[in-house]
Amino acid sequence: MSAEGFAIQWLKDRFAYDNKARNPEVEKAFLDHFRTKEKLNIVDIGSGIGANCIYFMERLFKHQNWILVEKDESLYRATFASIKRFLEDYNFFYTVEENTFRIKIWESRVKIILLNASFFDIKELIDFEQTDILMAAAVFDLLSEEQINTFLAPLSGREISLFTTMNYQSMQFLPETDIDRKIIEAYEQHMQRPQPVGAALGPRVSKGLEAFFYKKNIDFRKGESTWNLDEKAKKMHKHLLKYMYNSLLTHSLNPLSEDRFQSWYQQKQKASELGELKMEVVHQDYFCRNF
Ligand SMILES: C[S@@+](CC[C@H](N)C(=O)[O-])C[C@H]1O[C@@H](n2cnc3c(N)ncnc32)[C@H](O)[C@@H]1O
Repeated sequence: MSAEGFAIQWLKDRFAYDNKARNPEVEKAFLDHFRTKEKLNIVDIGSGIGANCIYFMERLFKHQNWILVEKDESLYRATFASIKRFLEDYNFFYTVEENTFRIKIWESRVKIILLNASFFDIKELIDFEQTDILMAAAVFDLLSEEQINTFLAPLSGREISLFTTMNYQSMQFLPETDIDRKIIEAYEQHMQRPQPVGAALGPRVSKGLEAFFYKKNIDFRKGESTWNLDEKAKKMHKHLLKYMYNSLLTHSLNPLSEDRFQSWYQQKQKASELGELKMEVVHQDYFCRNF
């Protein structure tokens, strides 16, 4: 696990599920908006192992300058490896020097700069006048309402678009028992637990973002992005169950007696191993032209 608890393996394993879940209409609104632009300047905040960049760099069909901002050092380092691996797997020509990749993808030149920094501290490092689009995947639900305001408010009103995907909304087991529901409710409380920077929005992230958009009179496109974790999604079950189990235990939010909680966890692990577990996790994606 990295310092903030985002395991590199977790981000790798969810990559395919995130890509499958991406909302096609919201993604199309983003791609259509920039269809005729020859070059795109993109800032991806909370970039993890570079998932957004790896997904889009061969889908944009234009020159691209990416800046990936990741505060966790182990994830920042892992990004080099994951981008390199992608480029080598697909045989794209590239050079890499310090924190910068230069890549040729068909007719497009792609430059990627990796920054190991908090996105709250990047205003001096990045020229937002030159930025076309801000991207954030699975990030805003980790922030409090105040943090979203602090970060987004100074950027809005400029000619920057916002494309944010995988904002957590809800989850369920299929089928679901009353105990499962109680555990999910406790887990969602954990996401919103008080922290020094305020309570993260967790499942309230859509409300928080939309309140910001309405306040600033910003038009947005939105659509669901859902992980359908069927019987075969065993790795995803394992990560999610373990994360739920650890976070409820560590923060004493477990709604059951210790014994019942252990037995719930063991039953779910067993059901997944036997190919009898299904889960669904719903997120929301948003695209705003000039937010
Ligand atoms: C759930 S992960 C998502 C990673 C990636 N966007 C993806 O979709 O795979 C959230 C990421 O945001 C990063 N993060 C959280 N707060 C941050 C901050 N203030 N500055 C930079 N990165 C941050 C975490 O370290 C983590 O890599």
